[in-house]
Amino acid sequence: MADIALPQPYAEHISLLRKAVDEALARTGFDGLLIHAGTPRTYYEDDQEIPFRSNPSFAHFLPLSGPHHLLYLAAGKRPLLIQVEPEDYWYEHTDVGDTFWKEEYEIRETSTPEDAWKTLHFVGRIAYIGDNPQEAYAHGIEKDAVNPDGVLSHLYWRRSFKTPYEILCIDEANHIASHGHERARDAFFAGASELEIHEAYLEQLGIIESKLPYGTIVALNEKSAILHYQNKRLIEDGKVLLLDAGASYMGYASDITRTFLAEDCDVLFAGLVGGVDTLQRELCDVVKPGIPFPTLHHAAHVKIGDLLHSLDIIHVGGEEAVKEGLTRIFFPHGLGHFLGIQVHDVGGNQKGPEGDIVLPPSEHPKLRLTRTAAEGNVFTVEPGIYFIPILLKKIRTDAKKDLLNWNLIDRLAPLGGVRIEDNIAVTKEGNENLTRRYI
Ligand code: GLY
Ligand code: MN
Ligand code: MN
Repeated sequence: MADIALPQPYAEHISLLRKAVDEALARTGFDGLLIHAGTPRTYYEDDQEIPFRSNPSFAHFLPLSGPHHLLYLAAGKRPLLIQVEPEDYWYEHTDVGDTFWKEEYEIRETSTPEDAWKTLHFVGRIAYIGDNPQEAYAHGIEKDAVNPDGVLSHLYWRRSFKTPYEILCIDEANHIASHGHERARDAFFAGASELEIHEAYLEQLGIIESKLPYGTIVALNEKSAILHYQNKRLIEDGKVLLLDAGASYMGYASDITRTFLAEDCDVLFAGLVGGVDTLQRELCDVVKPGIPFPTLHHAAHVKIGDLLHSLDIIHVGGEEAVKEGLTRIFFPHGLGHFLGIQVHDVGGNQKGPEGDIVLPPSEHPKLRLTRTAAEGNVFTVEPGIYFIPILLKKIRTDAKKDLLNWNLIDRLAPLGGVRIEDNIAVTKEGNENLTRRYI
């Protein structure tokens, strides 16, 4: 792993976050903010625990894993971290040691959640952000102070502008994942199954699956047209591998997709992959402050239409294909989403810190990102072209069916689809591609 200097960028990060909290509290009339790390949960009617993930608002401040911790913030006060380390022989204890983030907090340690709450002596009206409202009420937090929209929208707005510390973390998450992609690609070229490719990826990262930011999509051939394919088949010697896999660093995610082809893959499909790679780079290149994301999404559709036309898969050019709704059959998801602590990070359709929403255009109702790019935003750019049987079936008997070349579609459908996905940080004048520098 790279030797990354974190203390200074982290200190700046915390200073910006504290300022955002102060503003949120001042605007909403609260005197302090309590952020709860989270509560362990089991599956319904079961004693098996669901893998724990920290409350993202807690992870925004510090990369301390595990449940129950409390973080208390109030204007002009050093943040107070109450770290809960149960004396419990069922589970491993976390020893954070002498880590870079400790400097920024007053830290108290307790062995029970109950003691953590007791050690707090807050005054005035306190807002609570967390997954356990009942626990908050039981300790005197008022009903309308639990996850209040006004506070959350301010903090989500802040989260949509990454600090240099956060960009370092997302960059490193890309670096780590890139090694996994290389290893998985080599396994694919050696004829490995989906399960073996997945295992090669994890082995390279040296982690168990629950430590990934999201479940890997390891799809050979026709399964690459299933957008959130999670199975891992044992079939070998695939012609196409769509690998969508990321990594985490200090709680921040990367989200990367590559589509690899066996040497004897259909040349037409290879043309499609090369074309998507080119148009994906073009879309990344134009990212700069001021570009509305829906405009970029529309541009992706036109380029995809033009590519399909140039390969004779459809009989009309890009603009016409978009108007006729053809490109949505082949590219039925959004061009991208914010990325950070969460893979699909918050704030993608916020108008401002107050939480008003920018609606997506009516023809793309599911677009997660409707904002205009600004310095500090980090998002994915992930165009794709897929042969999805349920979408193709609808148009095969439609009046528009003659706009498509069914011979070629039927030839390519067993190969599934292609997606290329990079993580882009918007800079003052343009952007930095955090993925292509590694893979
Ligand atoms: N890996 C999920 C996505 O690309 O959004
Ligand atoms: Mn993505
Ligand atoms: Mn992805």
